[in-house]
Amino acid sequence: MSETLNELKAGFKNGKNVKFSSQIKGYVLNLVCVLLTENTSEQGLYDLTTIEDFTKSLDEIFLIENETFLHTFPFLGFAPGLKFKALHENLTNSAHNLHEAFFYAVKATIKPGLQRGFIDDLLNAQHELDQEGCPQLFEDEAVKAMIQNVVVGAYLTTLSTVETLFLHLLHRQDIQDRIFQEIVDVIGESPPRLHHRPSMPFTESVILETLCLSALAPFYVPHRIREDVLFDEYVIPKGTGTVLQMNSWFNLHLEKRWIDPWTFHPS
Ligand code: HEM
Repeated sequence: MSETLNELKAGFKNGKNVKFSSQIKGYVLNLVCVLLTENTSEQGLYDLTTIEDFTKSLDEIFLIENETFLHTFPFLGFAPGLKFKALHENLTNSAHNLHEAFFYAVKATIKPGLQRGFIDDLLNAQHELDQEGCPQLFEDEAVKAMIQNVVVGAYLTTLSTVETLFLHLLHRQDIQDRIFQEIVDVIGESPPRLHHRPSMPFTESVILETLCLSALAPFYVPHRIREDVLFDEYVIPKGTGTVLQMNSWFNLHLEKRWIDPWTFHPS
């Protein structure tokens, strides 16, 4: 943090551009690493570029023009000379590297009783099922898939949210001042903790406004209906095989629900 602040200060002083977004990226990668392993990147134990490469190749494959083709004609992912083959290979290789850097590296160092992060939790659960004689319920492939899910769920979403927040703040000195005042009043010199959060209503509303205005995941993930659901005046019956995909962009910008949904005004 202090390195970033010094770099920003020096940049402003000398009229130079500072690559602030790459700094934010470093922090978010670090957070994901802590979540997975309890270690910070400074310890150099885990290769964080594998997270970046994996999410990047996944992002490319999920572009609508790529995903539609690959979903409809999966064999295109193996067809020589087409970009789909390269996309498929990038994803496979980056997933392999992510597994090497996190799954195998953590598994090689786990000891009974250790609980260093999310991956240890998964490996401990796997070990328990193994002891109970049902290893097939949680095989390595399932653990790797869960690591991938968390990496994908946590990294790009958090990074884009924080970047969006700073873009808004750049234009609003008044909001920066109010957040700063709340930090001084509530947190002061102590390390920030979750219990501070309820006492910081303005900062909370800035976070919520950022999430609402940017609607970073415009479509939620698809859901299948397992039991009858009453939604407004509609009943969505169980067993229809319906796949629901909610349009969050639409809901978060509904003019009849939100006051002025197209401007940034936390309150
Ligand atoms: C600002 C940051 C984040 C945003 C905007 C975000 C957004 C979302 C959205 C829209 C969904 C789909 C919800 C649904 O349709 O039911 C989702 C699901 C999920 N998110 Fe996040 N997320 C964020 C941070 C995180 C973090 C930090 C983690 C991991 C620690 C995470 C892990 C997951 C997982 C595992 C799911 C799937 C849950 C399920 O199985 O239904 N997300 N997230």
